[in-house]
Amino acid sequence: MSFKSAMILRPVGAQDRIRLRDWRNQDFIRQASLTDHKITVDEHNAWFDNILSRDDGVWCVAELHGNPVGHVNAVMQDGDTWQWSFYIGDQNAPKGTGAAMLTLFLAELFSRDGVQAIAAQTVASNAASRHLHEKLGFVVTGEADDVLDLSLSRARWQDSQAIYDACLSRVPKGE
Ligand SMILES: CC(C)(COP(=O)(O)OP(=O)(O)OC[C@H]1O[C@@H](n2cnc3c(N)ncnc32)[C@H](O)[C@@H]1OP(=O)(O)O)[C@@H](O)C(=O)NCCC(=O)NCCS
Repeated sequence: MSFKSAMILRPVGAQDRIRLRDWRNQDFIRQASLTDHKITVDEHNAWFDNILSRDDGVWCVAELHGNPVGHVNAVMQDGDTWQWSFYIGDQNAPKGTGAAMLTLFLAELFSRDGVQAIAAQTVASNAASRHLHEKLGFVVTGEADDVLDLSLSRARWQDSQAIYDACLSRVPKGE
């Protein structure tokens, strides 16, 4: 079964509180993040309570065959540009999970009239993240202090639909 049939995105809910901290504190995710300290329970709870009440962003969990596998969010940065961040928290998720999750999320973001561009920041040495962004059509807009800035415009997203179709048509290994 393809990612298109097997994956959904749903809003983060109360049932994700512990899961998101456990995922975020995994070494491979901390090392890939712009802030790499271990997130304390108090710090996480403050963040989590805050996102549940905000209306200037969207916070989602991706599920594959009903199992939570990753988190992606975007926050309005300035008017028509939204900044996203994400990770695949389930280390056993099949290859292609990240691309499928982000493809679904881009469609969700660009379904909103006001959204004209998605911005991203990634550790410059995070080769998988850079590769994934560029595969999805993002272009590098700057680099400083080991941080890469990337951006995807609505026009470029519209022109890149064949790429997204391919990401969603992929069948996870083993299925
Ligand atoms: C980055 C991340 C989301 C990718 O998830 P994933 O499920 O492995 O993603 P996919 O399998 O869809 O795609 C990964 C792509 O990167 C490529 N890749 C993996 N490691 C790579 C590396 N070291 N160098 C270059 N490309 C690499 C893969 O080959 C694949 O590309 P392909 O499909 O064209 O072959 C996941 O590794 C993760 O959560 N990392 C930690 C957190 C993180 O980096 N978040 C992003 C911060 S901006």
